[in-house]
Amino acid sequence: MENKIKLVQGDITTFTADAIVNAANKSLLGGGGVDGAIHRAAGPALLEECRTLGGCQTGEAKITSGYKLPAKYVIHTVGPIWYGGENGEKELLASCYKHSMDIAIEHGIKSIAFPLISAGVYGYPKKEALEVAISTLKEYLSSGIEISLILYDYDTYMLSITVNQSLEK
Ligand code: AR6
Repeated sequence: MENKIKLVQGDITTFTADAIVNAANKSLLGGGGVDGAIHRAAGPALLEECRTLGGCQTGEAKITSGYKLPAKYVIHTVGPIWYGGENGEKELLASCYKHSMDIAIEHGIKSIAFPLISAGVYGYPKKEALEVAISTLKEYLSSGIEISLILYDYDTYMLSITVNQSLEK
């Protein structure tokens, strides 16, 4: 059984896993950042399925097929917008990871890859976002699911290694 979250630098749209997670917005109808990249790579059928879902609340998650992506499924979750950290951001961000993992377990998913939810357009500070991501996902290592956290740029990838080490102490 895996005993670590895999930290990977790269583009999540090319990552091979049973499911990738999308950092979406409440409409689930696409946007910029990783959301735009996932929709472009999956093709228009993804948007068609998303239109049937009726949106998604912050901190929750919904699953679709992956269409042209290497991943079989996309789990769409809506991270909190950072308003300074005193507005429940941490709990909402942890809830995104938890709901996504709960859906993965329900669907028998064996491998899953996450982007760093809320750490782009939504303004969540990267170090704090990494702490929430890694500490929350560690609670799911006992599920046996292979969990990867995909960091898009080199600096965030390097920071993820530092944060991971500090959480192990
Ligand atoms: N692969 C992996 N990570 C990526 C990729 C990629 N292809 N592209 C960007 N990232 P963001 P958010 C990283 O802004 O902050 C959208 O418009 C990026 O460097 O994608 O949750 C939605 O529709 C950052 O670290 O998501 C929402 O409106 C992380 O992914 C809003 O943005 C998240 O950045 C959501 O904002």
